[in-house]
Amino acid sequence: MRTQVGIIGSGPSGLLLAQLLHLQGIDSVILERRSRDYVLGRIRAGVLEQGTVELLRAAGVSDRMDREGLVHGGFDICFGDRRMRVDLKELTGKAVTVYGQTEVTKDLMDARAAAGGAVVYEAENVRIEGLDEDRPALTWVKDGAAERLECDFVAGCDGFRGVSRQSLPDAVLKTHERVYPFGWLGILSETKPVSDELIYVNHWRGFALCSMRSPTLSRYYIQCAFDEDLEEWTDDRFWDELRVRLPSAAAEAIEMGPSIEKSIAPLRSFVAEPMRHRRLFLAGDAAHIVPPTGAKGLNLAASDIHYLSRALTAYYNQGGREDLIDSYSDDCLRRVWKAERFSWWMTTMLHKFPDQSSFDRGIQLAELDYLFDSEAARAALAENYVGLPF
Ligand code: APR
Ligand code: PHB
Repeated sequence: MRTQVGIIGSGPSGLLLAQLLHLQGIDSVILERRSRDYVLGRIRAGVLEQGTVELLRAAGVSDRMDREGLVHGGFDICFGDRRMRVDLKELTGKAVTVYGQTEVTKDLMDARAAAGGAVVYEAENVRIEGLDEDRPALTWVKDGAAERLECDFVAGCDGFRGVSRQSLPDAVLKTHERVYPFGWLGILSETKPVSDELIYVNHWRGFALCSMRSPTLSRYYIQCAFDEDLEEWTDDRFWDELRVRLPSAAAEAIEMGPSIEKSIAPLRSFVAEPMRHRRLFLAGDAAHIVPPTGAKGLNLAASDIHYLSRALTAYYNQGGREDLIDSYSDDCLRRVWKAERFSWWMTTMLHKFPDQSSFDRGIQLAELDYLFDSEAARAALAENYVGLPF
């Protein structure tokens, strides 16, 4: 079997790349180790930057997002008995769109099927060969049979625990990491969201976030210990703790109900460099992880794919141009590090750190105080939240 671009992973990165390449007449095959249903069963982020929205429109997969997505012009931050709105529209002229990653993935899967594009689900033991000879090939096992795909390039869109990043030689790969001493306990409930916009809370007991997926589907998070036992969190205990941390008006107004999903996620900042080695490109979570506080994970995957689809299109459709292939890693990392900084800053400002010194606490309070008192500080937050230019 042969194709132009072999893609590992059918999450948002792999599917969006395949769709953008298809629109340029470039052939690809996606290898995914899980089933389609398993991929669609993941509950992930839900805030799209304007740049991501525009990229999804350019990919021709935005009809349902434009119908069902919730456009938000701002969000609230609460700290102590203070609550303020960060007016994204006034400060940047831009908004964000609340539309679940699961929905983005489904829209991309439907587009792949409509295009008749190849996706191999439950592809086991995917391996990358031939990188050093610039003749890459992917091998895998499907239903017990060994398979092989020759390709010109490989896109490693296989997430944080995939095989692609591991395929970079140790002498080439450099990683940078910070693991946070807490996690997020999140629930989905078929209830009316407590507010029309998101509410981020810095409370002395820990961080809380009120989000949503639709006018009838709420998404809530509370900071918890990184080794918390999910079995010890009944719905009642979750709602009680969330309401303690929320401003009183929200705590009184919140509609509670049974959780239809409940999980704990660790928080980590991680960057792998370079994001390209010979004919292998890393994109999305395969190359970087951000704590969810700034809602940057999916949006960084989108900007990586913008750069990668642009580079491969230049190669195939502009006479073998290689300049954008050569600059891919630097182009991505320039934006990745700014999003890493913003996500680290939001996380540091809004969470309770177990080993926080009195100085650390003083800095955190000053950060929040400055934000509440300075429009310039809010403008800096807003331009990062809506997304820096691609
Ligand atoms: N072989 C084939 N597929 C693999 C392998 C492998 N060895 N390892 C992982 N995969 C698949 C996973 O099953 C998953 O479907 O690659 C896909 C990677 O998808 P994501 O983890 O969603 O990563 P990405 O597409 O970059 O999207 C980033 O997802 O995790 C969130 O917060 C993150 O919102 C961000 C987004
Ligand atoms: C979510 O809705 O899952 C969400 C929203 C904003 C964040 C993180 C998660 O910053």
